[in-house]
Amino acid sequence: MNPGATAEAIRHHYDISNDFYGLWLDDSLTYTCALWEDADTDGSGGVRETLEGAQARKLDHLIEGARAVGARRVLDVGCGWGSLLKRLVQIYGVEHAVGLTLSDSQADLIRAAGLPNTELRVENWLDHQPDGGYDAIISIGAFEHFAKTGLSRAARIAAYREFFERCYAWLPPRGRIALQTNIKGNNTVMDKATVRELMFIIETIFPESEIPALSEVIEAGEKLFDVVSLRNDPDHYSRTCAEWLRRLTENREQAVRSAGEENVANYERYLGASVRHFRNRHLGLARIILEKGR
Ligand SMILES: C[S@@+](CC[C@H](N)C(=O)[O-])C[C@H]1O[C@@H](n2cnc3c(N)ncnc32)[C@H](O)[C@@H]1O
Repeated sequence: MNPGATAEAIRHHYDISNDFYGLWLDDSLTYTCALWEDADTDGSGGVRETLEGAQARKLDHLIEGARAVGARRVLDVGCGWGSLLKRLVQIYGVEHAVGLTLSDSQADLIRAAGLPNTELRVENWLDHQPDGGYDAIISIGAFEHFAKTGLSRAARIAAYREFFERCYAWLPPRGRIALQTNIKGNNTVMDKATVRELMFIIETIFPESEIPALSEVIEAGEKLFDVVSLRNDPDHYSRTCAEWLRRLTENREQAVRSAGEENVANYERYLGASVRHFRNRHLGLARIILEKGR
């Protein structure tokens, strides 16, 4: 049984319209937290850093952490619109990059780009049966979909452990996973408005998904993977969401034409809430490099 979000729930989010996402994401269509040089500022005091540059830096951080540079076979679990696959094969000389997504719209866009040395599958990682092992595995912003809303802590850890067991089987000794995921923040004091906002995000924007606690991620990987490095960058996600919201507002008319008023209003509310909840530590952002023990 699939303990994570169903393909229907994933499509509810990612299949709204590629044009809609193109109006407010960066040019590479990377839809996860960027890595800013200085996330505490909005850049207005000096040379303004671009979202494009900060997204590329994030991809590079994870590619290098996973030791995917020049690798033969790399797996991207939850490949979105293909920005990591593109960077792996076009800049980092990866011979064969495999991307998994559950979204048909994302798959259509990647296929249309005709990326060389890339294999794209509309497939749950639970069903993935690779033709060979992988030298490195990278997963950015998909882990939040691996356990459904409302499962017990034990059931969530079991779901995440299943993922790590698959990765363990696919990797060689000392092979690495670079994992980026939202995590629960340390600020558990929530007023009613905050609870309502977080419920709105779970129910309306990301149905069937659940943000893990960092301890759950680490426990799920115990005795399989060692933690090589770990950073928590909530301010980086706050700034990323602020930039997405700024672009969405700037292109609002076009966004309404491609996704409808209700979707646009919902996304404005979700992005605005995310800016605040990362800043006030209701949410965190983990970038974890894990290494197979033996
Ligand atoms: C927030 S997007 C991130 C996309 C991309 N990694 C990026 O940084 O732009 C999450 C991705 O995870 C994929 N996904 C979610 N659950 C999945 C699963 N069980 N198996 C494979 N892909 C999954 C979605 O289809 C989507 O492509």
